[in-house]
Amino acid sequence: MVEETSQCRPRRIGILTSGGDAPGMNGAIRAVVRTAISNGCEAYAIHEGYEGLIQGGAMMHPIHWEDVRGWLSRGGTLIGSVRCDRFREREGRLQAARNMVLFGIDALVICGGDGSLTGADLFRSEWPHLIEELVSTGALTEEQVAPHQTLNVVGLLGSIDNDFSGTDATIGCYSALSRICEAIDAVFDTASSHRRGFVVEVMGRHCGWLALMAAIATGADWLFIPERPPRDGWEDDMCSIITKNRDRGKRRTIVILAEGAQDSNLNHISSSAVKDVLSKRLALDTRITVLGHIQRGGAPCAYDRWLSTLQGIQAVKSVLSMTPETPSPVVIIQENRIKTSSLAETVALTKEANASMHNKDFEKAAILRDPEFLEYHSAYRHLNTTDHPKLLMPTDKRMRVAIIHVGAPAAGMNPATRAVVAYCLTRGHTPIAIHNGFPGLCRHHADAPVSSVREMHWLESGDWVNDGGSDIGTNSGLPSDDMETTAQCFERHKFDALFVIGGFEAFIAVSQLRQAREQYPSFRIPLVLLPASMSNNVPGTEYCLGSDTSLNTLVYFCDVVRQSASSSGHCVFVVEAQGAEYQATAAALAAGAMTVYTPDRPITLRSLSGDIEYLRQQFLQDHGANRAGKLIIRNDQTSTIYSTSEIASIIKHEANNRFDAHGVVPGHFQQGGKVSPIDRIRAFRLAVKCMEHLETFAGRSAEEVMADERSSTVIGIRQSHILLLPLGGATGVEATDTDWKRQRPKTQAWLEIQEAVDSLSGRSTHS
Ligand code: F6P
Repeated sequence: MVEETSQCRPRRIGILTSGGDAPGMNGAIRAVVRTAISNGCEAYAIHEGYEGLIQGGAMMHPIHWEDVRGWLSRGGTLIGSVRCDRFREREGRLQAARNMVLFGIDALVICGGDGSLTGADLFRSEWPHLIEELVSTGALTEEQVAPHQTLNVVGLLGSIDNDFSGTDATIGCYSALSRICEAIDAVFDTASSHRRGFVVEVMGRHCGWLALMAAIATGADWLFIPERPPRDGWEDDMCSIITKNRDRGKRRTIVILAEGAQDSNLNHISSSAVKDVLSKRLALDTRITVLGHIQRGGAPCAYDRWLSTLQGIQAVKSVLSMTPETPSPVVIIQENRIKTSSLAETVALTKEANASMHNKDFEKAAILRDPEFLEYHSAYRHLNTTDHPKLLMPTDKRMRVAIIHVGAPAAGMNPATRAVVAYCLTRGHTPIAIHNGFPGLCRHHADAPVSSVREMHWLESGDWVNDGGSDIGTNSGLPSDDMETTAQCFERHKFDALFVIGGFEAFIAVSQLRQAREQYPSFRIPLVLLPASMSNNVPGTEYCLGSDTSLNTLVYFCDVVRQSASSSGHCVFVVEAQGAEYQATAAALAAGAMTVYTPDRPITLRSLSGDIEYLRQQFLQDHGANRAGKLIIRNDQTSTIYSTSEIASIIKHEANNRFDAHGVVPGHFQQGGKVSPIDRIRAFRLAVKCMEHLETFAGRSAEEVMADERSSTVIGIRQSHILLLPLGGATGVEATDTDWKRQRPKTQAWLEIQEAVDSLSGRSTHS
């Protein structure tokens, strides 16, 4: 429950979606409605955005707990959204204020873009004057307005464009990116088969975020975005890169063009102009694919469900705790943290970014949107070129960088390796793949006929941009299995740096190598770990590569079984999730499960019978309602007594034919197929940062490396930051954040979402 800090605590909270629609908006509505109800408020749906507020009547109505059942997985917005010009006029806002008072609504949560939020803030600032006018003109009485002296407004950012300053992501942008990547992955096949070129046009209005991220996530050959207009003569630059890539054996050519693409004089660059250049100058058989509104539709990805749910909860918390003096907040996200900031300031920054673009200050526009935008863009450009002489390191600073995968396969291992290879080739380092982990390294040592250690070339890793699993092979074996041979191999292959990608075993492996440096000089090289594990359990980070792909796969599985549960009447599915507590908990939130069982929340006879009783009551009240199927997610390590099938059998038995229960296990299916866009982008970004870090050791002596704590590090995302943290030493991750027994970090930031799962399913009020 939210603490009451305001004397004028709202009782009725209206929710509306405005501007465009975006996947995830329904999740936000669901979270706002249920959190409002849990906090003793009434929730009101306002249909068709501000138009509904102006029209009133049937466009505004109470919305109940059950009304939003199943909304989490549905695309678009189920309460409608229009771009409303009438709300721009004072007359429209006057009418809206009247309806708000008549319906007794004293707070608004608005999910939309910058225009919608600007309107909301203006509405709030004008509120006392609007009320005054309504009374003076006799449209409302003093008594009617008495309880409505203030209006609380909170903004949620919903747009696929991700064009808002001050937040890393808007609700919907990653779902749109997923759609774009799915489409381009499919285009790959035809492009490769026919050695064709494709110009793919993506949405984003005046913002190039979707296009830039799509280019990184698909390894596109060339990119046009509004914030980085190409220099004059771009036709030659583009043709030269594409020719080089094709000469190196690449069969497909992909050019991504943002719909707002422009040159430095703000002249639009069209997909047909780009196609003409490719066809005429390179005689490349080229097609145009305009993805259009496909990008905006469809079920939201796991990230958008998580984001919209947690932001919806935060919106209600903010609405209930703000005072008349509090500036209207907008809910944002920075890396992994949901926060609020000033709506007016955020909108102002966004407008400034747009104005900078009109004034041709492209750099400022990009920085205002997101300080990392330019970093991403320049990394994309450099890694895409790979033979820019200016980027080469001096010869005495070029390193032999060994890459190894350790532990279970995780999506993101291949894209990360691809980025490391491209980075190395761009800078003149030698990328070396170690096949099949440490056992692979040791097995083929000395004079073995097959070498598991070999230099990598640009083309072979080219296709790994979206490939799941590990193409160089991963293994859970540790250096300690044969430390002597491992050290000999390091020496023989003259590694100057080791880039490890993997999960908790990889963490142990790097720790072992670090500690063995005293004894084995060949380990006195910089060691870096990029965490990759669907279990998301590597100390030092809140995020591991592969965890997003796996989560999306599990959520998709849950959507399908829930559909079956709903179709066959009263039914509950107990889904067994691999991937430590994280996967079960995050999937429960993203799939809208009734509850989650993990080792941290053990199942007892008491809790189980409480849940059965809750199910009984729920199904009794449902009267065969829509989408009534229920899900319980159980982590596979939860209990040795209560297995998934046993829990399902007990529920079924106790239900006494009133409802049905089944246990289902996705098993290794959960590892996922193609890598999710989030894992691809983060693989790229984190790999580049790791390589930049390794390079700081280039040319340093073994003693210097050993003396530097930062020579063995793990990269991670923590709260709002990307950090490279030393493993050893009193303040290192091994000592401060490692639960060695349970093989996970000591701090598990996501554990708090378990509470959100239960509160949004209604279970917590019951138990
Ligand atoms: O703002 C979202 C967005 O999908 C943009 O990417 C695109 O430019 C625009 O809306 C399309 O608008 P409409 O759906 O009105 O054609």
